[in-house]
Amino acid sequence: MPRLAIVYLSTQGSTKMMAEAVAEGAREKHIDVDVDNFYEWDPAEVAKYDAICIGSSTFYYTMLEPIAKFLDKLIDIGIEGKLGAAFGSYGWSGEAPVLIAEKLRKAGVEVIDPVLRIQYIPNEKDLAECIRLGKDLAIKMKKRE
Ligand SMILES: Cc1cc2nc3c(=O)[nH]c(=O)nc-3n(C[C@H](O)[C@H](O)[C@H](O)COP(=O)(O)O)c2cc1C
Repeated sequence: MPRLAIVYLSTQGSTKMMAEAVAEGAREKHIDVDVDNFYEWDPAEVAKYDAICIGSSTFYYTMLEPIAKFLDKLIDIGIEGKLGAAFGSYGWSGEAPVLIAEKLRKAGVEVIDPVLRIQYIPNEKDLAECIRLGKDLAIKMKKRE
């Protein structure tokens, strides 16, 4: 079964809610999913998954340094050719998910659309979009098998 790693940074839980919903969507399509806060993950482990989904909320018009460093480590290890997705909650500008997607694409990851950004706390409709992203990712993963 293809495996999906979902890694997130979330200060108040909004991006975490998104991450759990993406996981739910992928699991509905029978993908083996592990979802956790970035500080619970070892980048070397994440690099072994078939697909990598990274989420971060936006702070001061960018992503916070710990998740940026995590991403750099992951890219140094090598994730070229994998499938990916980027997401995150934001307040008013929402750069972090866009920057994550850019970094992943530069590293040779096929990042699927949409780069999902939800303003503040996700509502039911927002969570349905996250579930949809998880399903889309799962379908793409299966096509690659
Ligand atoms: C100190 C601080 C700085 C922030 N800076 C930004 C910002 O530059 N752009 C933006 O879109 N949102 C900004 N936000 C809003 C957060 O991204 C937003 O509250 C988000 O929902 C937090 O999600 P999380 O609970 O997953 O961390 C900021 C919030 C705080 C507390």
